[in-house]
Amino acid sequence: MKPVKVGLMGLGTVGGGTFRVLQKNACEIARRAGREIQIVQAAAREYDPDSVPGIANIEVLEDAFALVENPELEIIIELIGGYSPARELVLKAIENGKHVVTANKALIALHGNEIFAAAQKKGVTVAFEAGVAGGIPIIKAVREGLAANQIEWLAGIINGTGNFILSEMRDKGRDFEDVLAEAQALGYAEADPTFDVEGIDAAHKLTILGSIAFGIPLQFEKTYTEGISRIEQQDVIYAGELGYRIKHLGIARKTQKGVELRVHPTLIPERRLIANVDGVMNAVLVQGDAVGPTLYYGAGAGAEPTASAVVADLVDVVRALTSDPENRVPHLAFQPDELSDLPVLGMEDVVTAYYLRLKAADRPGVLAQVAGILGEAGISIEAMQQREPGAGETHVPLIMLTHSVLERQMNAAIEKIEALECINGEVMRIRMEQLDG
Ligand code: HSE
Repeated sequence: MKPVKVGLMGLGTVGGGTFRVLQKNACEIARRAGREIQIVQAAAREYDPDSVPGIANIEVLEDAFALVENPELEIIIELIGGYSPARELVLKAIENGKHVVTANKALIALHGNEIFAAAQKKGVTVAFEAGVAGGIPIIKAVREGLAANQIEWLAGIINGTGNFILSEMRDKGRDFEDVLAEAQALGYAEADPTFDVEGIDAAHKLTILGSIAFGIPLQFEKTYTEGISRIEQQDVIYAGELGYRIKHLGIARKTQKGVELRVHPTLIPERRLIANVDGVMNAVLVQGDAVGPTLYYGAGAGAEPTASAVVADLVDVVRALTSDPENRVPHLAFQPDELSDLPVLGMEDVVTAYYLRLKAADRPGVLAQVAGILGEAGISIEAMQQREPGAGETHVPLIMLTHSVLERQMNAAIEKIEALECINGEVMRIRMEQLDG
């Protein structure tokens, strides 16, 4: 059979890694795909030829729009990243009848509905495994491996940079900025690292996971997004003393009222396997009604781990070239006309437990006032610790863990607590999940 001709857009970290893996494992990949896969043209504005051995043997265009017009190419790999011109390039490739493989989670989370509709109309596939959790085949697992199940919830560490920062803060007491700079130097961080630290990158990935888990359209704008920049060293320590770890989780849960899609720092019991996923590693815990809990772990970023997912998609697309479009795996796991209009819940409608840290005056009756407010709001306290005051301090840190409650009720209670004369400053609140199925 003739080789499949592929165009590669982007020769950065993942583009270079993809080129390398395709060269290195060409024979194995061809044996799996049933045909040889050849990158015959690439497009990149700037790249380092020395980091992509063999690239000199193919034509590298400056203009990616010229690449998607090349009639010789059957598949386009988009590894440019960002919203634009990636969106225009992918839509043009689809219009020209080409299949697309992308690692661009931002593109899929924001423009996936439009892109998949265009792809369906043209009978082509858009594959995006590499967009979520790097090398972990989580899209394939949820979309195909768990197809028998009603997915009840999933929770993932889906940003390696953020996990690296939290792990180093806990293990080595390192400074936030210092760890972030290292993640950038290692090529893990996004071009704009606030995407990692403020949870936007994780929200892109969670939006995609939520859609394939529950069969709902992609709704990035409704995904609640909170970063890790407010987490202090003392919270990491207090959580540890109470038997918890703080992880930056993406959580998608189906409830009777709708779907929760939320990214925020979360206390989870340290005995859970996922609580022990450290450094840049990612992990996703998925609870299906038939299978129970399943856990997927691996490298969530980096050149070759991400290339592993890109090439796996490429192999899938090559195998599907001869199949009828209606017999292929649907982009969002469910048939396009079977997507549900289940609402995505606002954060105030989410039910979760909480870690609270207050700075309270060290005198009689203060605890009773705080407990009274929580009690009136129907919030039950699970554990409490009062810390020693620092030298010359009149206020002490008060740590509380609560049982689950509607976030709206907790917001009202926190407002009342902050208004107490005996409480200094804002109440620090971190949501808490047991992840016990
Ligand atoms: N910046 C991302 C991360 C890269 O740190 O996980 C992979 O999407």
